[in-house]
Amino acid sequence: MTATYVTKDGSAYFPNEPKGPSVKTSTVPGPKGKATLEEISQVHDVGAVKFPVDYEKSIGNYVVDADENVLLDVYSQIATIPVGYNNPTLLEAAKSDEAATAMMNRPALGNYPPKNWARMVQEGAIDFAPKGQKYVYYQMSGSDANEVAYKLAMLYRFNNLPRANGTYTDEENASCMNNSAPGSPETAVLSFRHSFHGRLFGSLSTTRSKPIHKLGMPAFNWPQADFPALKYPLEKHTAENEAEENRCIRQVEQILSSHHCPIAACIVEPIQSEGGDNHASNEFFHKLQATLNKHNVLFIVDEVQTGMGATGAMWAHEHWNLPTPPDMVTFSKKFQAAGVYYHDEKLRPHAYQHFNTWMGDPLRAIQAKYIVKEIRDKDLLNNVKVVGDFLYTSLEKLAEKHPGKINNLRGKGKGTFIAWDCESPAARDTFVARMKMNGINVGGCGVAAIRLRPMLVFQQHHAEILLNKINELI
Ligand SMILES: Cc1ncc(COP(=O)(O)O)c(C=O)c1O
Repeated sequence: MTATYVTKDGSAYFPNEPKGPSVKTSTVPGPKGKATLEEISQVHDVGAVKFPVDYEKSIGNYVVDADENVLLDVYSQIATIPVGYNNPTLLEAAKSDEAATAMMNRPALGNYPPKNWARMVQEGAIDFAPKGQKYVYYQMSGSDANEVAYKLAMLYRFNNLPRANGTYTDEENASCMNNSAPGSPETAVLSFRHSFHGRLFGSLSTTRSKPIHKLGMPAFNWPQADFPALKYPLEKHTAENEAEENRCIRQVEQILSSHHCPIAACIVEPIQSEGGDNHASNEFFHKLQATLNKHNVLFIVDEVQTGMGATGAMWAHEHWNLPTPPDMVTFSKKFQAAGVYYHDEKLRPHAYQHFNTWMGDPLRAIQAKYIVKEIRDKDLLNNVKVVGDFLYTSLEKLAEKHPGKINNLRGKGKGTFIAWDCESPAARDTFVARMKMNGINVGGCGVAAIRLRPMLVFQQHHAEILLNKINELI
């Protein structure tokens, strides 16, 4: 295969990147990594650690571990590294006075925003907001970005209830202090089976991917609808898939009409990621929006994993071409800041109904600005599209060559946001482990899926290394 880069001058984005992966130890983590883990375990939970990393040595698409093993990283810190490890543009930005001031004087933004906060928000979020979105609430993580979206939807409902003298009643004020209605009314958020929206109390109630996330935790009695289970290849199952999507929409309709309490919002991922990289058609999301509109239920799109260019569009829901923008769009991960976009000022509740000490972080707004500058300067959305198409068509060929090994290949036209199912959960886990020992850090999701979550600077020569290893090890 010949390498064709999509940088303007045909070069690599990171000229100093290693030429390829190299694993020198017989295990990853190796002896130094294991000793490091032992040290960390004295002060921190290491139950889920894959391997300790040398972040100073990691560069571009390559992560370097404590034993100096060099791995091509197509998992990218659970899909969060946007433009490569130690990206020079970001390192330079970190040295600026603006960044130093923001880092060492973190403000309580809700009370004392910096005088240039409007500009910082404009440049750090609004300038690249999904089409139609005008405002932002910053949060700390994907989970609480979603929780704030739920709160905004619920408060919007509650604050607009007809009240005799336009203010909260004594009964509302008293009952909310006892966690009971009418001050704390039962209100629900609808989510989909296999979805992942986070692990805090509210977000966890809408998460439906794996029991281990939910076991032992109290949960809201909120409804879930089936997410379409599409058959692949899509072009051979058009009628069946359409019927399946219509079945799910009918279920949504039925839940919205019959749930025992009002449903304030429905949340959906453009591609259900943790739950197995499950896709649905653009038409499905159009129908979903129309159904929600009919029932006055707000539409929240969770772009925590799909946002910031991962599918070749800045925002994955832009692929849908909806007639009107979703009510809210949540983000985190590659954005490096988390939060909620919205476009209707009426979603802003009264002061202190939604509030926390920091209400965001100017440093993260600065960081997001430079990430987007890098995306634009280096034409990275185009890179993701071109490399994604190459990767997808090459994987189609590998699937033919290795029957039964690469099943339900999905993500066509969605950049490098690609996944497939292995023969079994055990086969998937073995494949992930073998890839790691051969210098590729890859992630799984759902029951038996492999998901590719490379950075936006993943180029064709990286894709070729990945494909060769898949061919060898599948
Ligand atoms: C779609 C989606 N929503 C929400 C979350 C939760 O984000 P966080 O782990 O930052 O709380 C995740 C995390 O993987 C996610 O993939």
